[in-house]
Amino acid sequence: MSRQNRKKEHLEFALKTAQFPVENGFSDLYLVYEAIPELNLEQVDTALNFLNKKLTAPLLINAMTGGHPDVKHINRSLARSAARTGIAMAVGSQTAGLEDPEVRDTYKVARDENPDGVLLANLSALASPDMAKEAITMIEADGIQLHLNVAQELTMPEGDRKFSDTLANIEKVVQQSPVPVIIKEVGFGLSRETIKKIYNLGVKYIDVGGKGGTDFIKIEKMRSGRVDDEGTPNIGITTAASLIETLSLNLPLSVTATGGFTGQIDVACALALGAELVGMAAHFLQVLSKKSEQGLIERIDNITDNLRRTMLMTGAKNLKELTGKPVIITGFTAEWLMRRGVNITHYARR
Ligand SMILES: Cc1cc2nc3c(=O)[nH]c(=O)nc-3n(C[C@H](O)[C@H](O)[C@H](O)COP(=O)(O)O)c2cc1C
Repeated sequence: MSRQNRKKEHLEFALKTAQFPVENGFSDLYLVYEAIPELNLEQVDTALNFLNKKLTAPLLINAMTGGHPDVKHINRSLARSAARTGIAMAVGSQTAGLEDPEVRDTYKVARDENPDGVLLANLSALASPDMAKEAITMIEADGIQLHLNVAQELTMPEGDRKFSDTLANIEKVVQQSPVPVIIKEVGFGLSRETIKKIYNLGVKYIDVGGKGGTDFIKIEKMRSGRVDDEGTPNIGITTAASLIETLSLNLPLSVTATGGFTGQIDVACALALGAELVGMAAHFLQVLSKKSEQGLIERIDNITDNLRRTMLMTGAKNLKELTGKPVIITGFTAEWLMRRGVNITHYARR
């Protein structure tokens, strides 16, 4: 199976396996309602600066595709939607584009359609500094995501089995990259221990890529025709737990929350905890495939509008004020965090 065909199958199986609502831990989290916000809806501002550019809302269309002629139209629609709504976007892994110049246009289209927007390159955390530089140049990227995906690779019969040089490699890329490096998981989460290792390499941007959304163990099993689908094993850190583990370290990191978001109150909750952006992949793909580019643009505007209303209901005029609003952590997520030694009362009382 070529890398190019694999990328096509990921789209197909991601749509088949995406079942919402999902358990990414955010049903355990509650914002505290402010009945007297002393604000008007039109005063509430969802804008921010990210990688030296202005975003209308703290949202990211996360890495999905590129690398096969048949998926170029998807990156075109995602990029047009990002441009029209003023949010960030990442292209899918660019290894196929580095290997085959013929498919580079399937990534470049994202920059052509969104010349002024925030666009992120994407490669494996095992990619060399030269590959990273080439991927960045290919789309004039504002930053580069390096993905960690041990669980996915181990489930793929043709996947990598060697991960012993990951930290040394990330360090080299960080030292040589002309743009900021974002370390991301693809759906199994990052623990406090992992975050400390990454931070010590000089990384300033994290995408927690937690469990509870797209499940690459399920997808890879389906792709290879294995019907022994006993579900995802009890491994992986939910997005809520991973985000709070990361933020509880109080390191100067910009953190993106990703994994199972569907644009509900969960977005505001993640931002209140301290995430800078919320990323979505499968939800945006589903909307695009069921509706259209226009449908996706409307959905993104609708998510931004929901966020604005939720901010008003917590008394937050802007994202700075939203960060630090109390969040009550209950249920499994509270139990997980307490057993991991994270002080959760702090989030309820600020
Ligand atoms: C079809 C599909 C393809 C993906 N391909 C990539 C990829 O090439 N590189 C990467 O870093 N993440 C990839 N991801 C992972 C997403 O960027 C994201 O981290 C993950 O899906 C969790 O978000 P979600 O639950 O909103 O889908 C892919 C996800 C989907 C659904």
